[in-house]
Amino acid sequence: DGAAAAPGRAPIPYGSAAQIETFRADARYREALKRYCDVIVPMNDLKWEALRHDRARFDFSGADELVDFALKNGKALRGHALLWGMALPPWAKEMSSRAEAERELTRHIEVVVDRYKGKIATWDVVNEVIAFDPKPSEPYRDTIWQRLLGPGHIEIAFRTAARVDPKARLVLNDFNFEEAGAGIAARRRIALDTVRRLQDKGIPIHGVGMQAHLYAENAIDSAGVQGFVADLGKLGVGVEVTELDVIDWKLPPDTGVRDRAAAKLVATYLEAVVAGGQPKAIVTWGLTDRYSWVHETFPRKDSAKARPLPLDEDYRPKPMMQVLERYR
Ligand code: XIL
Repeated sequence: DGAAAAPGRAPIPYGSAAQIETFRADARYREALKRYCDVIVPMNDLKWEALRHDRARFDFSGADELVDFALKNGKALRGHALLWGMALPPWAKEMSSRAEAERELTRHIEVVVDRYKGKIATWDVVNEVIAFDPKPSEPYRDTIWQRLLGPGHIEIAFRTAARVDPKARLVLNDFNFEEAGAGIAARRRIALDTVRRLQDKGIPIHGVGMQAHLYAENAIDSAGVQGFVADLGKLGVGVEVTELDVIDWKLPPDTGVRDRAAAKLVATYLEAVVAGGQPKAIVTWGLTDRYSWVHETFPRKDSAKARPLPLDEDYRPKPMMQVLERYR
């Protein structure tokens, strides 16, 4: 399942998203984060839904707990995410004017980035802003931000984050960059165009996050992925793999078959990425098959349980973990 990391190449930090409920309830989960991760990403606790449930006050309780744990254990942090069209509290979905949206977005980013300045080194500044199947006339996703602010929502977010923490690494994070097809190619083009537009306006952007929720039934477009990473590199922008997991709903139930297929897919994908340029981090969207959004979002039709992540339900490393560890 793929070549080993080339000798002489710098190690790539590996990490996982961490869910606060699980973190609090399961000591083995905390131990696994300590043992395997260089990087930790609060999975949901930096989203508006968590931080801004009340319009008037910020609730940092979950995020602070994960940030403290990470720092105490010498882990780096990624912040996810300052702007997203989803996971918004009801009041935010009801914003109705440009002025209100700009005021709220700017203040949110100021408060959140300032609080974690010097602690969270990298931010997903915008998440999933590229249209699912972009048209030249509609490159960006239809969200409350796009409706009220137009494409300028991306500029406002990056400009504000850069102003508050000039040292932070600022990332555009998005999905569906991995496979073949015109829609995917269009999504890569929009990402590149967005980077260029921000750069033309003098707005800092340092990375593109590739979520990499990989569908096991589909092939990786290795040349496309490699070219995308290389094209970003030519613009002086790096990449990170931010939400890696394998959606195995269409694979047969046999666990050995699925685990080998998942490892192979991840190996193929990471080889393509690395062939285009060295990613700043490789992060999986969870650590153990015991807990994953894939169970709810991509349910299998049989009674078998999805196996999307590098550790199995009992925290034993799967073949996927061996692939990941080669890059560390
Ligand atoms: C998911 C979390 O994993 C779930 O716990 C939550 O209920 C919904 O969000 N793309 C993203 C992530 O950018 O924030 C999403 O995380 C998964 C898809």
